Amino acid sequence: MAVDGPSGTGKSTVSRKVAAALNAGYLDTGAMYRIVTLAVLNAGIDPADEVGVANLLPSLMFASPVDPAEQVHTLAGEDVGRSIRSVHVTTAVSEVSANPAVREWLKERQQQLAGAGRMVVEGRDIGTVIAPDAALKIYLTASEEVRASRRYKEVGAAGRTPDLAVVRAAIAHRDNYDSNRLHAPLQAAADAIVIDSTDLDIAQSVEAVLVLAAQRG
Ligand code: C5P
Repeated sequence: MAVDGPSGTGKSTVSRKVAAALNAGYLDTGAMYRIVTLAVLNAGIDPADEVGVANLLPSLMFASPVDPAEQVHTLAGEDVGRSIRSVHVTTAVSEVSANPAVREWLKERQQQLAGAGRMVVEGRDIGTVIAPDAALKIYLTASEEVRASRRYKEVGAAGRTPDLAVVRAAIAHRDNYDSNRLHAPLQAAADAIVIDSTDLDIAQSVEAVLVLAAQRG
């Protein structure tokens, strides 16, 4: 199953819960882009330096789990679960993700993991590029206002003191960047089913996806 959509839709939580309910694996491809971005920043490479970033890729050792209950992401053996969600990484991740060498490199890994059995794979280009033959493609969206307020609560719960206007502007900027890049932009696949979660909570979104999954057998 492919689950795509912009930031702040509850996509990750919904996908993980759907995977657990279906006894399937769960792959968070956004976390993979975040790990590469963290490595780029740690190495002191400018995220806009396409060649510098491409040259770093072969040396990267990272692991992204597929057990929905055990989401421990590592870089060079170190747990980076917290640092990949930092403001620094979030600010730089779209630029690193627009780099075609990064996309090509991660595509291979994502397709390998996605092909290893029943999987829920979440991202921006899963239904269009990574798994165009997925049995079910979901495009999860919500109004910009609701997405900003969800992200605002998430950031607040993580112990930071966000400003709603700043969070909203950052979300709009990232989605705009992701939607307008040349390679594998964020878009719904032609055969994706759009779920608008503006008025749905997590449980209702999960239920909506599970109903569609049951219909597909
Ligand atoms: O899902 P998450 O917000 O963690 O994704 C972080 C970033 O990774 C996105 O804003 C996007 O730039 C990139 N991404 C991508 N393709 C994917 C998943 C994520 O370009 N399949």
